[in-house]
Amino acid sequence: MLHRLTINGKTKLYGIVGNPVSHSFSPEMQTHAFQHLDLNAVYLPFPVKEPDLSKLLDAFWVMGVQGFNVTVPYKEKIVGLLSELSEEARFLGSVNTVRRTDQGWKGFCTDGFGFTRALTIKGIALQGKNIVLLGAGGAAKAISFALANAGVNQIVIINRTQEKASDLQKRLLDFNPSLNVSVNPTSHSAHDILINSTSVGMNGEDIPAAAELVLSSQLVIDIIYNPPLTALLKTAKNAGIAIYNGIDMLLYQGVEAFEIWTGKQAPVQVMFDSLKKSLAFAQEM
Ligand code: ATR
Repeated sequence: MLHRLTINGKTKLYGIVGNPVSHSFSPEMQTHAFQHLDLNAVYLPFPVKEPDLSKLLDAFWVMGVQGFNVTVPYKEKIVGLLSELSEEARFLGSVNTVRRTDQGWKGFCTDGFGFTRALTIKGIALQGKNIVLLGAGGAAKAISFALANAGVNQIVIINRTQEKASDLQKRLLDFNPSLNVSVNPTSHSAHDILINSTSVGMNGEDIPAAAELVLSSQLVIDIIYNPPLTALLKTAKNAGIAIYNGIDMLLYQGVEAFEIWTGKQAPVQVMFDSLKKSLAFAQEM
C-alpha cells in the first residue's frame, strides 16, 4: 500500500555516516519504514571524510538529528565521540547505530543481534548448537557475541590470521569464562551450523573452508548477500544442506536500528521488500 509522503516543518532527520555511502540500501529501506508507520521522518546518506567526523556529529546535534547508522570505515572510530555505549557496543568496540538521548549520543551495534534474530524468526534454535565461524573481523565479533548470548554450546573460530582469531577468543572468554571457544583446530568434531563472516565469495568462486567442513554441516550461512548464492552456498545447496545468505542479517540490523530509534515495532515486510528491490536493481547495474 502506498502511503502519503509526509515532509514538512516537523520532519525528523535520520541518516547514515560512512565513506562511501552511495551504495547503501538503508536510506530507502528506513524511509519506507517511517512512511509506512506514518512517522514524519526521512533518512539520508552523509558521506564524510575522517577529519570531519566529529564536526559532523556536532552539526547533527545542532540540527536535531534523531539517530543515524555508521558504516565503513567509522564503526570503530566513532566510539570515542559518543557519550554512552550499549553493552554489545562496549564489548565490540564498534557501533553501527547511534541514538540521540538527553545526555548525548548513545551507540549500539545491531549487526550481531540482527543476525541471531533473523535465525530465530526462521525457527532455528541456537541454544546448545555447535558453531563453526569462518573469520575473525568486525562481523565475526558481532556475530560471536550474539551467539554467546543466545546460549550456543560451542564456537570454533577459523581465520587466516591466527592472532585475530585468538584475540576474539580471549574477548569472548573475558565476557563469559565458561564459553566453549576454540581457534583454528587441526581436527574437527561434529558441528551444526557453519557461518561465513569473511569476504571470501564476494568476487568469484572461492570457498572460505575445506569441502568436508562445509559438507558435514546441517546448515550453512553466508553473511554475503551480493551475490545471493556464493560458491560456498552453492556447494552446500547441491549437497542438500539448508542455506541462508546475508540478506536477513542486513534486514534485521536495520529492523533493530529502527526499533532503537522509534521504540516501535518495525514493519519488517516493508523493509524486506525495499531491500529486495534495491538488491535486484543493484544486480542489474
Ligand atoms: P568485516 O567488518 O566485514 O568483518 P574485516 O574486519 O576486515 O571485515 O574482516 C574480514 C575477515 O575476512 C577477516 O576475518 C579476514 O581474515 P584475516 O583476519 O586473516 O584478515 C577475512 N578475509 C578477508 N579476505 C580473506 C581471504 N582472501 N582469505 C581468507 N580470509 C579472508
